[in-house]
Amino acid sequence: MTKKLIIANWKMHKTNTEALAFAKQFKNTQSRKAKVIVAAPFTDLATLSVAQKDFQLAAQDVSAYDEGAYTGEISARMLKEVGAEYCIVGHSERRIYHTETDAMVSAKVQALLKKKITPILCFGETREERDSGKTKVIIKKQITKGLQGVDDVSEVILAYEPVWAISTFQKGKKKSSASEGDIAQVHAYIKDLLAKLFGNQGQRTAVVYGGSVHARTCENFIKYDDVDGVLVGRESLTVASFQDIINTVE
Ligand code: PGA
Repeated sequence: MTKKLIIANWKMHKTNTEALAFAKQFKNTQSRKAKVIVAAPFTDLATLSVAQKDFQLAAQDVSAYDEGAYTGEISARMLKEVGAEYCIVGHSERRIYHTETDAMVSAKVQALLKKKITPILCFGETREERDSGKTKVIIKKQITKGLQGVDDVSEVILAYEPVWAISTFQKGKKKSSASEGDIAQVHAYIKDLLAKLFGNQGQRTAVVYGGSVHARTCENFIKYDDVDGVLVGRESLTVASFQDIINTVE
């Protein structure tokens, strides 16, 4: 049985001290049915890779360039050396706050694959796109452009994150989260699309769901074969709430 991927996205939370405290508390919770990955801030990666073995590490972004005069950027080679085995790319917070385009996302995917780091490629429609019936068109565009030039797409993890369901974009607005039906339907579409576009490789590509995932809601959709796991923001910040989500697959 393939393990479900339970991926924490800490975003810009946790200093080194706080990350270490999390790792220490998480220690004895090895999971049989879940593969646990934590996408930590750059500054926590080296410390976490030495201090613990209970989860694998991901970064939250990478430079598209290998090396050079790119002030403030972090390369895939640097990530590799501090123990990151995965890296999120194209998160909606980067697409929206940092105007990242599909072309930039695709260049980052390539940079990671060259260094044998697994990209976790995020995509998903906005509220307006959903309301105007464009969900499938947007998803198809972001997937095909993001995966352009990739030799084996099964080396990439895809993360369907409808922008309207992510907690970040709901501040001051009425809370909305994707229903079990929404998730099942869109994941079935994505799996079908991947099989059509990439054949066998597409069928082997993992697709996780993200957007206000909570233990209470997670158990309703994690059971679907088309849902290979979850990407969790807010609820991954405490060991207790993150562990509750992991327990939904135990
Ligand atoms: P959320 O974040 O679980 O807080 O909605 C998920 C994400 O943005 O990856």
